[in-house]
Amino acid sequence: MWRLFNSRSLLVTALSLSASLSSPNTLRSMSSFSSTDTMRSPPAAKKVEHRMEMFGDVRVDNYYWLRDDSRTSPEVLSYLQQENAYTDSVLSGTKQFEDQLFKEIRGRIKEEDISVPYRQGPYYYYTRNLEGKEYLQHCRRLIPNHDMTPCSVHDTMPTGPDDPPEHVILDENIKAQEHGFYSIQAFKVSPNHKLVAYAEDTKGDEIYTVHVIDVEIGAPVGKPLTSVTSDVEWANDDTLVYITMDEILRPDKVWLHKLGTDQSSDICLYHEKDDTFSIDLQKSESQEFLFVGSENKITRFIFFIDASKPEDGLKVLTPHVVGIASWAKHRGNHFFIIRRSEEFFNSELLACPVDDVSVTTPLIPHRERIKIQDTCLFANHLAVYERENGLPKVIAYHLPAVDEPLTSLEDGRAIDFIDPVYTVDPAQSEFNSSILRFSYSSLRTPDSVYDYDMNTGTSVVKKIETVLGGFDASEYVTERKWATASDGTQVPISIVYRKNLVNLDGSDPLLLYGYGSYEVCIDPWFKASRLSLLDRGFIFAIAHIRGGGEMGRQWYENGKYLKKMNTFTDFIACAEYLIEQRYCSKEKLCIEGRSAGGLLMGSVLNMRPDLFKVAFAGVPFVDVLTTMLDPTIPLTTSEWEEWGDPRKEEFYHYMKAYSPVDNIKAKNYPHILVTAGLHDPRVMYSEPAKFVAKLRATKTDNNMLLLKCEFGAGHSSKSGRFEKLQEQAFIYTFILKALDMIPEL
Ligand SMILES: *[C@@H]1O[C@H](CO)[C@@H](O)[C@H](O)[C@H]1NC(C)=O
Repeated sequence: MWRLFNSRSLLVTALSLSASLSSPNTLRSMSSFSSTDTMRSPPAAKKVEHRMEMFGDVRVDNYYWLRDDSRTSPEVLSYLQQENAYTDSVLSGTKQFEDQLFKEIRGRIKEEDISVPYRQGPYYYYTRNLEGKEYLQHCRRLIPNHDMTPCSVHDTMPTGPDDPPEHVILDENIKAQEHGFYSIQAFKVSPNHKLVAYAEDTKGDEIYTVHVIDVEIGAPVGKPLTSVTSDVEWANDDTLVYITMDEILRPDKVWLHKLGTDQSSDICLYHEKDDTFSIDLQKSESQEFLFVGSENKITRFIFFIDASKPEDGLKVLTPHVVGIASWAKHRGNHFFIIRRSEEFFNSELLACPVDDVSVTTPLIPHRERIKIQDTCLFANHLAVYERENGLPKVIAYHLPAVDEPLTSLEDGRAIDFIDPVYTVDPAQSEFNSSILRFSYSSLRTPDSVYDYDMNTGTSVVKKIETVLGGFDASEYVTERKWATASDGTQVPISIVYRKNLVNLDGSDPLLLYGYGSYEVCIDPWFKASRLSLLDRGFIFAIAHIRGGGEMGRQWYENGKYLKKMNTFTDFIACAEYLIEQRYCSKEKLCIEGRSAGGLLMGSVLNMRPDLFKVAFAGVPFVDVLTTMLDPTIPLTTSEWEEWGDPRKEEFYHYMKAYSPVDNIKAKNYPHILVTAGLHDPRVMYSEPAKFVAKLRATKTDNNMLLLKCEFGAGHSSKSGRFEKLQEQAFIYTFILKALDMIPEL
C-alpha cells in the first residue's frame, strides 16, 4: 500500500463515494452552514499551540488539533464543512460552467460498453458498463465447444441469439445502492467456476469484507470474512487464502479459510512481526501455487503454498536477506524469479527447480541500462516487461518444453510500439495459449487492448476505448523532451498538445503533472477528460522526475532518503525548461500532483511559489515530518525505508527542510486547490486540512486557496465513474477560473 493515487485506473475501475457536497447527509446537519449561505470570508481555523521537540529543535503546530483518528469530532467536522462551504461559495459563479464541462467530459465516453472478454476454463469473463450507471456488472458466457476451441488471436466471444446467454454474476450498481461509496477490488472465480469471492469496501478506508457467492444463483456461501485486505485467492475449490492487517493497517498475517467454517477458527499460516514489512499474495499463472511476499522498500522475500495442499502451509522460496528483493512465477518444474540486489539494481531473471529452490540458473543477467520490471509466464512462452532509456519494452521468448531442462533462453522478439512515448501494461492472458494480452495507450492514443501471438509475432487490436465527440488522434502531437536538472542530470518530459490550437510562443497555458516516489513510473497515459484542456489550447506535460522508476532503479535511489530534494528540484528544472523553450510562461503554468505527488506540490510551492500560476494538490502527503515521527499512523513504519526515519537526527533535519507544512512562509503563493478524503487511510485528511489552515493564516497574497474534503470517500475520491468525471470537471473549472479562461455564459 502506497501513497499513490492511480489516476490511470479511475475510468476503468469502480472506485468510490457517498455524500456529495450538495446532497443531504448526516454530517451536514451538524453544521451551521447550508448550501444557501453565501460565505465571503474564508474560515480561520482556531489555533491551539502544540509543541514538538526533537534534537533540541522545537516545532509549534497550531493545527495539530485537526487530527481526530475517530473522524467524529464535531469541531473538526464542522471546520471541514466550513472549508467545503467556502469552496462552494468561491466557485458558485462558475458552477454553471462546471456543469457544462461535466456534460462535455461525460459526452466523450461510450456509456454502454463491455471489456474484452478473457477466457478462463470453459467461460469468457468480462465486465459491462450500462448507460447512466455508475458501476460495473461482472458477467460470463459459456464458450461453445470449449474443449475443441483453443484460444487464438482471432477469438471473439459469440453473442448471437443462438449462442450461450450472458450471465450477470454480480451487479455492483445494485450492491452500491445502500452505500455512498462502493468499491470492489478483487473478483476471484473458484477453480471449478462454481463460486466467486469478492472484496468489498463501502467506506473508502480500504478495510475490506470478502463475500463468497454461488455464481449461478448469486446466493451467499458461508459468512463473509470481515476486516481483511483485498488480497484473497482460491487455493482449491473450498479453501481461500487471505491477508489481514494490524492496528496500523499493515498487512501482517496470512490465513487459511475453509468454506463453511467460522472466520474465528481460521488457521494463521504466517505472521510478519517486523513492522517495517508488509505482506501480499498472488496466485501463479499456472494456477498451481500461491506466493506470499513480505517486503519493505529495499528487501523482499517469498514463500510458496502448493494450491492443491494448502494445509501444508508456507515453504521458503527466497530467504530474507537485507537488500535482496525477489518476485516469483511458476511453470512446470520451475519457479522463475526476478531478483534485485544492491549490486544488480536493475534485476536479473533466474529459474530454479520446484523441488530444489536453492539451485538457480540465470536466464537474463543484470544490465546497467535495462531494468526488468515484470514477467508473464505461459506454458510455452515467457514475456518480459522491461524499461530502457525511460521507455517500456516487451520481449517475448519461446521456452523449451516443460519436461526439458531449462538452461538458457533463445533470442527474444521485441514488440514494436507506435508513439514516441507510451504506456504498456500486462493484461490477463491465458496460460495455455501463445497469446500475450497487453494494454497500450499514449497521450493521444486511447486505451487499447492487444493480443500478440508470440509464435508469429503478429498483433491484433481487440479493443480501443471509444472517444465520442469527433476525437481524431492525428490532430494531437506527443513528444519527449529532456530538461537539465541542477546537477546536470537529464530529466525526461512527455508532452501533448493539439496541433492547430497552440502558438508555442510562451502564450499557451500548460498543465505540468508530477509524482516522483516509490519507484513508480508515470508513463504517459490517455485520459479522455484531458481533451477538455487540450481542446482549449492547453499543453499537457508529465515531468518524469527522480524518485520514480522511469529511468531504472537508480532513478528511484537518487530521489529518496537524503536525495529526496532531487525530486523537487527536478520538477522545478522541468518547469523552467518548459518556460525557456516557450511552451508556456509563469503566468500560464499550472501544476498537478496527488498523494506523494501532493507532497511534490507542497514542496515546490514553498520553494518556488513565483514559478507557478495555479496548483492542484490531491490528497497530498504534506505533513511528512510529523507523520513520519508517529508510528501510530498507518504507513509510517513501513515507509521509514522510503523517506527515512526522522527519529535519526540526520533524517530529521533533512525531512524538515522539505516537509510542506513545516516550510510555509509569509510570502505570495499561486492559486491553490487541495482535496482530502475523510476516510483516507494513506494520507490522513488532517494533513491537507492543516496545510490549508496554516497556509491561509500565513501567506501574503489574495489568490484562491480552497480545500474540498469528501466526507464519503478515501484516498481515491468518489467511487462512481460519473462522480469521478464530475470531480475532474470541478478541478478543471478551478484551473480555468484561476487563468481567467471561463467564458461568460
Ligand atoms: C493447461 O493445460 C493443462 C493440460 O491440458 C491443464 O492440466 C492445466 O490445468 C492448464 N492450465 C491452466 C492454467 O489452464
